[in-house]
Amino acid sequence: MQERAKGWHRSGLSVCLVPTMGALHDGHLSLIAKARSVVGPDGVVIVSIYVNPTQFGPHEDFNAYPRTLDSDCERCREAGTDVVFAPVDAEMYPDGRAGSFSCFVVEKKLSQSMEGASRPTHFEGVTTVVAKLFHICLPDSSVFGAKDFQQVAVIRRMVQDLNFPLEIVVAPTHRESDGLAMSSRNQYLGSKERVEAPTLFRILSACRHKVQESLKPVPMPELRQICDSYITQNPLVRLDYLECFHPDSLIPQDCAKPGDRLAIAAYLGSTRLIDNCEL
Ligand code: PAJ
Repeated sequence: MQERAKGWHRSGLSVCLVPTMGALHDGHLSLIAKARSVVGPDGVVIVSIYVNPTQFGPHEDFNAYPRTLDSDCERCREAGTDVVFAPVDAEMYPDGRAGSFSCFVVEKKLSQSMEGASRPTHFEGVTTVVAKLFHICLPDSSVFGAKDFQQVAVIRRMVQDLNFPLEIVVAPTHRESDGLAMSSRNQYLGSKERVEAPTLFRILSACRHKVQESLKPVPMPELRQICDSYITQNPLVRLDYLECFHPDSLIPQDCAKPGDRLAIAAYLGSTRLIDNCEL
């Protein structure tokens, strides 16, 4: 992969990487389209597909995570991808799973709250594998989804602090018609859970509406009350967190105002979903 990437650079071609864990949906495809618009018709779009073991906690869904490489490759082809990079574990973590690996990339500030608090080893798995993918694919740019807002902030910070010579591009969250953010994990939802899953988006929208119509910043307890009223009506939804934070620093805000970001994580049964919006 590195040899091919070096060849493209020698030929003056621009290279853009879209890192994924596969089970591709229309949200992923919108990232591929964005990558194409960044590099132009002659540039090279790489999609990586790798279910990265180091970003899953011990009791999380690593084994259950959907693996659909053949249909993913087909979707990539249709979406105009030039190369799919789909390594096996032994290539990414020699000697098998991550146990014998001893170098990790750790971001210490932005990765502590929200997803980092609920999933303590998650972000070091993400930064480590994304750093590896950047070194392997040598992209000039890489596209990430705003759906994983904290992930983008952590990766931007890694790129800045460790001088990775590439640009991070962010694509908006792609949603189902009822507002549910597309996710490979939506496949886990039973039919009743699927009906209640758009509650996350409805909570974000109701909170945004409240903040936008208010003349002064809205204390978080008021937004939590709005959240509670939706959850009471949707008993399958179990809240993990609702957090308001500054979009760059990710510093939590006690009062929400326009321009801040609001993020939510909740379980439907055993499925954990996340979403966020600008207020
Ligand atoms: P994965 O969950 O497969 O997501 C791959 C990329 O697609 C991420 O940048 C994510 O933010 C984006 N994405 C997912 N759902 C989206 C949606 N509904 N709209 C727009 N973009 C969406 O995120 C990962 O994989 C991994 O952590 C990875 C970065 C590949 C490292 O292993």
